[in-house]
Amino acid sequence: MKRIAILASGNGSNAQQIVSYLRQTGEAEVALIITNRPQAGVIERAKKLNIPCHYFTNEQLRDGAEPIALMKAQQVDLIVLAGYLCLITPIYIKEYPERIINIHPALLPDFGGKGMYGDHVHRAVLAAGKAQSGITIHLVDEDYDHGRHLLQATCPVFPDDTPETLASRIHELEHRFFPTTIAQYLRFL
Ligand code: GRF
Repeated sequence: MKRIAILASGNGSNAQQIVSYLRQTGEAEVALIITNRPQAGVIERAKKLNIPCHYFTNEQLRDGAEPIALMKAQQVDLIVLAGYLCLITPIYIKEYPERIINIHPALLPDFGGKGMYGDHVHRAVLAAGKAQSGITIHLVDEDYDHGRHLLQATCPVFPDDTPETLASRIHELEHRFFPTTIAQYLRFL
């Protein structure tokens, strides 16, 4: 059975959806969750889901040696970034070529790049007066939000939207499409 590591820095709702979906289908399993935030909500979710969760500092994560050694020891086949706010350095790409997937809460290449995460993205979409937004699930390379797209899904943006109302519409797309896109990609590994 294919094994996944999820890297997350925040609330962990996507991580939870992925774990639940894969437990239903039995196609793969989440071997561990890694975070760079000692107070991240994903830690609590991992505990409740009975998934091992490991904290590393930003320095350890940028260096890569320890997190990668852990993932290799756990026979991880695919790395999934679910709200992970630390740049993936070249050592990860070398060790896991075409095997790192990220989700971005906008329609790349617009509204992406360093510093574009969470509400910053939704504020920029609203400020630009876009009629639609959405998600992009893509392979990761050395640049932020830059690799080959695996899936894009769209949603409308309404005139009275706030960053919060747009974020909740985007989260629905994420929760609907991220687990299935990961499962489909795993079938080709
Ligand atoms: C999501 O909006 C995702 O698109 C972005 O970070 C957020 C993670 O949310 N990369 P959660 O921690 O999974 O709830």
